[in-house]
Amino acid sequence: MSHLSVHNLCKIYPSAAQAAVDNISFSVESGHILALLGPNGAGKTTVIKCIAGLVLPTQGEIRVLDIPLATAQRQAVSHIGAVLEGTRNLYWRLSAWENLLYFGGIRLVSSRKLRQRADELLTLMGLEEQKHVEVRRFSRGMQQKLAIAVALLHEPSLLLLDEPTLGLDVEAARTLERTVRELAQQRGIAIVLTTHQMDLAERLADEIFVMDGGKQLAYAPTQALLKAYDLHRQSVVVQLMSALSEEQAGRLLALLPSLSIENQGSHSATLQWTVERQSDLTLLLANLDQMQVQVDSVVYQKARLEDVFLSLTRNGGT
Ligand SMILES: Nc1ncnc2c1ncn2[C@@H]1O[C@H](COP(=O)(O)OP(=O)(O)OP(=O)(O)O)[C@@H](O)[C@H]1O
Ligand SMILES: [Mg+2]
Repeated sequence: MSHLSVHNLCKIYPSAAQAAVDNISFSVESGHILALLGPNGAGKTTVIKCIAGLVLPTQGEIRVLDIPLATAQRQAVSHIGAVLEGTRNLYWRLSAWENLLYFGGIRLVSSRKLRQRADELLTLMGLEEQKHVEVRRFSRGMQQKLAIAVALLHEPSLLLLDEPTLGLDVEAARTLERTVRELAQQRGIAIVLTTHQMDLAERLADEIFVMDGGKQLAYAPTQALLKAYDLHRQSVVVQLMSALSEEQAGRLLALLPSLSIENQGSHSATLQWTVERQSDLTLLLANLDQMQVQVDSVVYQKARLEDVFLSLTRNGGT
């Protein structure tokens, strides 16, 4: 049983001409993190809101711990914690501690447990020192951490985070990243997050789901997605011990039209291109050899998630 399963989800907003979410399916296991990626307007927030029970799907089925959202919404949602983008839902004039107690009360956390839980979450989020500080004095990073703490009060099995690192500085984003990883690894919480930060998704997510125009472009374990892309096209950088003459460059370009050649003065040059076939590299090296050009280094560059993402969203998928 998955912590979350989404099956053939569709959402057409009233008055909209096109589906915001168009037949999407995925699942997330306990302790796994899924990153939902896509350009602006792809439908990510809509998916998150459907799962959180805030937007009514036009079609499809969502189950949380196997509980169907459509027919047992209250029960299904009781296992979800969500931090939506823009709406942090904290009371500005209350302190961190008061916010936790207030929202814990609403979520029906028993008052016996609540204080202990609130303290534990403040520690987890590194907010002990801010315990009695009013939220309006918080930095964006602190607000975001408190919002996550609030979302965790009722010990959810599924955590939804819409752009959790938006507007955070590098340090705060890294801290948040660590915390999210710990929530998954140590507490077995299943996490769905959206982000435009490809490096974050690559480091954090076990699975990647890429969508555009409401449709699925890719859905795979992160490493498998990168590997599959690498097999198709590997970016190779060949460093030479001397610059190439125009004639030499012309000869190489006739062989490999997509080759980029950059001379660094007269003493070195860099060749870069995307290898479609292994034999391209052999061909290049053989020709350099014939021209008596010495090779300094040959480096394969591993695909980054950003490369995969751009390729997918520009080409409309594979
Ligand atoms: N309440 C709404 N009513 C009508 N259309 C909406 C509504 N909310 C979103 N949309 C439309 O649905 C599509 C998907 O929007 P959504 O906010 O889910 O995208 P997103 O992937 O989260 O984008 P972003 O990266 O900018 O946050 C967009 O075309 C948007 O204009
Ligand atoms: Mg969004």
